[in-house]
Amino acid sequence: MSLVELKGVVKRFGTNTVLDDVSMNVERGEIIAVIGRSGSGKSTMLRCINGLEPVQGGTVVVDGETVSAPGADLRALRQRVGIVFQSYNLFPHLSVEKNITLAPRVVKGIDPGTARELALGVLRRVGLAEKIDAYPDQLSGGQQQRVAIARSLAMQPKLMLFDEITSALDPELTGEVLKVLEQVAAEGMTMILVTHEMGFARRVATRVVFMHQGRIWEEGGAREVLEKPRTPELATFLDAVLH
Ligand SMILES: Nc1ncnc2c1ncn2[C@@H]1O[C@H](COP(=O)(O)OP(=O)(O)O)[C@@H](O)[C@H]1O
Ligand SMILES: [Mg+2]
Repeated sequence: MSLVELKGVVKRFGTNTVLDDVSMNVERGEIIAVIGRSGSGKSTMLRCINGLEPVQGGTVVVDGETVSAPGADLRALRQRVGIVFQSYNLFPHLSVEKNITLAPRVVKGIDPGTARELALGVLRRVGLAEKIDAYPDQLSGGQQQRVAIARSLAMQPKLMLFDEITSALDPELTGEVLKVLEQVAAEGMTMILVTHEMGFARRVATRVVFMHQGRIWEEGGAREVLEKPRTPELATFLDAVLH
């Protein structure tokens, strides 16, 4: 069974249909890059996958659990699905360690010693072990985003969703965050990431999904989609982001 199965998903806000019959399966270990213009439904699709948005039609199944069913256990789901946004959302008054261990301590009830070990472990994976006692405002934007990734990893998710996590960063900080993503991908994590970094998508993604007007307009291997657009909409989009 696929880790993620979207079948005929319809999402509306009032009369605005934002996801229009979206179907997609994601297998374990896949790295999906989602591209498309602003307003095409990329963020909404991610939010439907981790149950932040109810859907009006179709089904969303994650790790065998039907997210879209009434009464779905969304708390359990969100422990298995990590999501990282463009804004880091770190708590400014908490140290890096506390930011990372807050959820595991509350949700999984681990003791302080174990929590610190856990924080160290995930910080090593993002190359920031030495910042464990720092506060967010002592870190660069890139480092804060890496802490946000570490925080997500600390819940040992089966799937990670990334929504334009480098869009607010200067180019020189974008690179260090992409490197961390690439490493997490290499460790075998299943990831769906909305990105404008086409070079990264080409190098790392097992599949690229182009969204347009709430639909999956084109999808396929990274090279196929990025180098041989079959529709004028994708060609226009690529032209705009690559030039
Ligand atoms: N909470 C919301 N309420 C009403 N409309 C929304 C909401 N979230 C998103 N939308 C609308 O859904 C459409 C798709 O938005 P979004 O998924 O954020 O696109 P993208 O991430 O591709 O830029 C847009 O038209 C947006 O205005
Ligand atoms: Mg978005």
